[in-house]
Amino acid sequence: MKILVTGGAGYIGSHTVIELQAVGHEVVVVDNLVNADLVSLKRVERITGKAVPFVEADIRDREAMEQVCQTYCFDCCIHFAGFKAVGESVLQPWKYYDNNITGTLVLLDVLGKSGCKNLIFSSSAAVYGEPETIPVTETCPRGRCANPYARSKSIQEQIMMDMQKADPEWNIVLLRYFNPIGAHRSGMIGEDPKGIPNNLMPYITQVAVGKLEKLSIFGDDYDTVDGTGVRDYIHVVDLAKGHVKVLDSIAGQCGLEIFNLGTGVGYSVLDVVRGFEKANNVKILYEIKERRAGDIAVCYSDPGKAERMLGWKAEYGLEDMCRDSWNWQKRNPNGFTD
Ligand code: NAD
Ligand code: UD1
Repeated sequence: MKILVTGGAGYIGSHTVIELQAVGHEVVVVDNLVNADLVSLKRVERITGKAVPFVEADIRDREAMEQVCQTYCFDCCIHFAGFKAVGESVLQPWKYYDNNITGTLVLLDVLGKSGCKNLIFSSSAAVYGEPETIPVTETCPRGRCANPYARSKSIQEQIMMDMQKADPEWNIVLLRYFNPIGAHRSGMIGEDPKGIPNNLMPYITQVAVGKLEKLSIFGDDYDTVDGTGVRDYIHVVDLAKGHVKVLDSIAGQCGLEIFNLGTGVGYSVLDVVRGFEKANNVKILYEIKERRAGDIAVCYSDPGKAERMLGWKAEYGLEDMCRDSWNWQKRNPNGFTD
């Protein structure tokens, strides 16, 4: 298939491009590089041995998007482009709603008019808010979102549901990612957050590499196995492969489906710290701090629907995730700028 990958220079997008090319899909990346470095795609080319056609454009730029769609006549779009920093979204909500929602509105319109009505969307477990049931199934209602980032995902989902209802020719798959970590086995690409990381694993790897002094663990008084927050960490390569499985299953279909992409296993913050230390033989200094506003105690998926309907199941465990995150960080202490 010929696939438009928006945001394909970013963390999850670049890993997905590798898996798409590996099974013979033709990929074109559109990214405005607002949160990525073109070096990531150069490295993808070195890994796959194939060129990655790239268009530098903002998905809100209607003319540019029309031009791309006209030139390539896509069969499907995998839509990663968007902002994702929770804290920033609280401080700059307009920026988030504009980029994420306006971007998606323009993209959907241009795609539809070009005749491409197959779309896979990067959603998030954040749309469940504080989940009603654990493990979280797709039938769990979208909850009260804790921040504008999560709300933008929830709104984008709703827009797509309404569009598909109005025009049943659309074939849309909403993928709700749990907590992606890890990196490509080669250590050539990985997550490269700007500034001080907000998320757990990049913080740990930056402590390990000596860029940060110690990890703050946000709360040890949750009702969990050791008092620290529990999440469903998933290897980014497993996540990337999930997109390929979706493509296999949706060809020629119409409708809207939602899938959780997680492992179904919950690990506490301390499990991750200890797992990282054991897998890599490095020490992680940490201290216990106050809970972080907006955090929930426990969130992990029931990934059964993806296994039943897509034949997809996460293969990597915590040790693999910790090893590959560290391999990427230690080879690239300053990310793609090295
Ligand atoms: P990322 O920031 O690494 O990648 C997003 C890419 O989109 C970047 O390359 C950025 O330059 C590009 N981009 C942003 N706005 C754009 C625009 N208007 N036009 C063109 N390109 C634009 O993030 P990621 O971690 O790879 O996440 C990919 C998607 O998955 C995002 O939509 C994110 O919200 C979603 N998601 C991520 C996580 C996570 O923990 N990483 C979890 C759940 C959902
Ligand atoms: C966070 C976002 C979520 C988003 C997801 C994307 C918040 C409140 N939620 O999820 O909306 O979809 O990232 O990746 O930001 N932790 C520490 N110390 C740290 C960092 C994290 O103890 O320095 C703990 C957190 O309290 C949590 C766990 O580690 O228990 C995971 O945190 P994080 O990696 O930020 O992911 P989420 O909070 O699950």
